[in-house]
Amino acid sequence: MTDDLLARHRAVLPSWMPLYYAEPIELVSGSGRRVTDAQGRSYLDFFGGVLTNMIGYDIPEIREAVERQIRTGIVHTSTLYLIRQQVELAEKVARLSGIPDARVFFTNSGTEANEAALLVATNHRRSHQILAVRNSYHGRSYAAMGVTGNRGWSASALNPLQVAWLHSGERLRGLLARLDPADRIEAAVEDLREVLATQTAGNVACLIAEPIQGVGGFVHGPDGLFAAWKKVLDEHGILFVSDEVQTGWGRTGEHFWGYQAHGVTPDLLTFAKGVGNGFALAGVVGRADVLESVPAISFSTFGGNPVSTAAGNAVLDYLLDHDLQANAARTGAILADGLRAAVAGLDCVAEVRGKGLMLGVEFVRPGTTEPDPALTTRVFEACRAGGLLAGKGGLYGNVLRMGPPLTLTEDEAREGLAILVDAIRSCAQAEVAP
Ligand SMILES: Cc1ncc(COP(=O)(O)O)c(C=O)c1O
Repeated sequence: MTDDLLARHRAVLPSWMPLYYAEPIELVSGSGRRVTDAQGRSYLDFFGGVLTNMIGYDIPEIREAVERQIRTGIVHTSTLYLIRQQVELAEKVARLSGIPDARVFFTNSGTEANEAALLVATNHRRSHQILAVRNSYHGRSYAAMGVTGNRGWSASALNPLQVAWLHSGERLRGLLARLDPADRIEAAVEDLREVLATQTAGNVACLIAEPIQGVGGFVHGPDGLFAAWKKVLDEHGILFVSDEVQTGWGRTGEHFWGYQAHGVTPDLLTFAKGVGNGFALAGVVGRADVLESVPAISFSTFGGNPVSTAAGNAVLDYLLDHDLQANAARTGAILADGLRAAVAGLDCVAEVRGKGLMLGVEFVRPGTTEPDPALTTRVFEACRAGGLLAGKGGLYGNVLRMGPPLTLTEDEAREGLAILVDAIRSCAQAEVAP
């Protein structure tokens, strides 16, 4: 019984690890883009375990690759021995990264990937000064929390790094809000120059940024912002780290990596979530001279293990064979266009934003930019009641987030869109009713 499981969950797991929904659900089976809960209710999944079930559920090619590896009897060897699956995956990731002469280090989570990126950047530059972006999320270790610019996800002020904060360049909130894109880029560059001159001692190691802020509510600066920032960074030799944990592998539709919208190549790129389609697989890929900046032995016991890298190889082969980036563009456009048309005239929706299959709807008090997290929660619950799993996020908890598997079909996109639109309209109407 779910009720019993909920009580048991609460008795032994910490309360700071939240559960979705007033009545939390246990997902017990899945196929394609659909999951079934312990009560036998079926849902179309538009959140994919936080953008992690990137190909979908029970995909034969991935299941078989993992089963093949398990049947060899080798689940783990440690990185003290050659791991064929790991080398093959590293070759693919290095090639796809767009970074010349790249090296890859595998970890188990996005947090560890960013930790590794920060380690090599700080060693390479002999500096622990970092630039990070307001409203960002990079993970839950001390260093990753240290570069996280979101109070709701910062569980400690202890920080091994010296961090200075940039404006994100987003359209809706903050000092640069509502400027047109070119002016926002100019203002963000001015901000960077000022931060470097006033808040640092000069030799900064790197800037770490998400092309689209995930936990932050799918907000992003104008295309080209990273290139404008990088021009300034290059004047100082500062490295640029693109956190592609949510934006990677074609999810944005228009590009394979989020950074490519900016006409820039990062020195380091971190990845996680979707590449394992649920298996614990993450890592950092970067310029050889930077990634080699580890003056001691360093390894990860489970990072890049034979099972997770077997999954990773199957995921990337599937992704490329089926051109899922193009599918993300196609199905994402159905969702984005449909949502924009449906909310036109609804003054409780400030913005429908995002790219490809990474879309957010931000709810505000009518006619203002004041966040409305209560309305967001009602829409979120109404989606679930209608048979659609979505996500929630944003600095103020007022953004509905959609990050479905990249295998989403056009029919499923329309089906989910109809549920979303119903939920938004019915909750918005209830809001204005006396
Ligand atoms: C952009 C980004 N970076 C890093 C992380 C941390 O990844 P993990 O939870 O695998 O440690 C996340 C997780 O949501 C993320 O969205």
